[in-house]
Amino acid sequence: MATDVHGPVTPVTAKAEGLAVRVEGLSRSFDGRAVIDDLRLDVQPGEFVALLGRSGCGKSTLLRILAGLDRDIEGTVLVPRRKAVAFQAPRLMPWKRVWRNVLLGLPGRPERALAERALDEVGLENRSNAWPKTLSGGEAQRASLARALVREPDLLLLDEPFGALDALTRIKAQRLVDELWQRRGCAVLLVTHDVEEAVLLADRVLVMDGGVIAYETRVDLERPRDITDPRFGELRAELLRRLGVDRTERTAHPQPTA
Ligand SMILES: Nc1ncnc2c1ncn2[C@@H]1O[C@H](COP(=O)(O)OP(=O)(O)OP(=O)(O)O)[C@@H](O)[C@H]1O
Ligand SMILES: [Mg+2]
Repeated sequence: MATDVHGPVTPVTAKAEGLAVRVEGLSRSFDGRAVIDDLRLDVQPGEFVALLGRSGCGKSTLLRILAGLDRDIEGTVLVPRRKAVAFQAPRLMPWKRVWRNVLLGLPGRPERALAERALDEVGLENRSNAWPKTLSGGEAQRASLARALVREPDLLLLDEPFGALDALTRIKAQRLVDELWQRRGCAVLLVTHDVEEAVLLADRVLVMDGGVIAYETRVDLERPRDITDPRFGELRAELLRRLGVDRTERTAHPQPTA
């Protein structure tokens, strides 16, 4: 565990180093147990990075640290001043209309038009005046994305944003994130359980294990990606292996052992 570098989440930008994110010697413990243990991570400006790892390995912990929501850490964390986060549960305030939710927490007195532009970007322009409880799961998720976009982030942090969506809505939401990323050009760190989603969307896929980034691979496939491309299949298989999920475990009829 790194004990030599100490420092809070630094509110300065990592831009000086030409990076969107720089993390060095990062450690975070809960009750004496290190969940993140001397982790190192760089993210380039505009890069789309997906983060995989088994449940409980520390993905959300890392994301919360990058978002500046957890400062009880050791190590160095440089992130852009403009960053935004969207969680699996959209976390909309039920007593505020959708457009007010989008503007929530912004400094000053931002105009409704600002929210409406962001809602337009996620295809939710006609639900601006709705109450959150009247939104479908996919709509609530898009409202949450609009709330992130309105901050014009240089770094967009997404913690399993599509986890609760049905398959079709999920595919639409993935396309939307892809489009928004291409249009906005911000760096994205997407936590997901879905290896296919990671390979579809990301420039680089990380696997977290043992408190560090234990494996990473670039996805040098042209976009939009074709899941039937054999190279896509190879990447997916390798990532599943790294996650400790191999083919025999995934098929209903494992190969008999000799
Ligand atoms: N505030 C906390 N207090 C104590 N332990 C915590 C706290 N937050 C996280 N942990 C522990 O740290 C570990 C990592 O949690 P984390 O939420 O980062 O996992 P994760 O990789 O996001 O898992 P999942 O894929 O299930 O969302 C878990 O063992 C969790 O119990
Ligand atoms: Mg999590």
